[in-house]
Amino acid sequence: MARRKIIAGNWKMNMTPSQAVALCAELKDLVKSDSVDVVYCVPAIDIVPVVEAVKGTNVQVGAENLYIEDKGAYTGEISAPMLVDSGVKFVIIGHSERREYFKEDDAFLNKKVKKAFEAGLIPILCCGETLEQREMGVTMDWIRLQIKSDLVGITADQVKSMVIAYEPIWAIGTGKTATTEQAEEVCKGIRECIAEIYDQATADAVRIQYGGSVNAGNAAELFAQPDIDGGLVGGASLKADFGKIVNY
Ligand code: 13P
Repeated sequence: MARRKIIAGNWKMNMTPSQAVALCAELKDLVKSDSVDVVYCVPAIDIVPVVEAVKGTNVQVGAENLYIEDKGAYTGEISAPMLVDSGVKFVIIGHSERREYFKEDDAFLNKKVKKAFEAGLIPILCCGETLEQREMGVTMDWIRLQIKSDLVGITADQVKSMVIAYEPIWAIGTGKTATTEQAEEVCKGIRECIAEIYDQATADAVRIQYGGSVNAGNAAELFAQPDIDGGLVGGASLKADFGKIVNY
């Protein structure tokens, strides 16, 4: 069974609510597609207006983060039930920026993955190596450790429904995309890792994105690789180019 491609924008900490609504209007006709899933992962404060702005379109909305508790005294945090009630379908977990700047470790991220599934959200679980790790030749060891740790206690059926994003840290926001071969090699390695932990059917079903300086010029070649099922797009998701990436 062919996997359906999924092209997601990660807006990061960009777009005020009014800018977000304007961007949705600008992209509306450009991101139309019957053949791929299109997701905007937006800052928490933009979720409600963006859900409203994309109503009746093919765009689904994702969050960039969630907390591991449903409610209570956790000042500043946003819970999975809050996201679901606001119309969110996807949630990015374990982006390298959260791992690095907010010190989120794999044990904590594993709890987030569990919480997302419990609430009915689809996790987009990110993994990726530093340039130093790549140069030391430990890329796949590192990524396998991330995947295995983040998926502890997650069932095969859950994994089949989720998305994994391979984002080499050295390619994020740098304009330095991984080569098609590098991206495919790791995405294939992730699929092999899933086959080892679970089974081949699970590995064949899980969707694996590439992220890191994806743009209108390199998307087609990346997404044509057998183990790359779409992209997680940062900078280029904030402009009209995103339409070209969706319709690569
Ligand atoms: P860029 O596309 O800006 O490199 O960002 C990639 C990314 O981090 C998506 O999550």
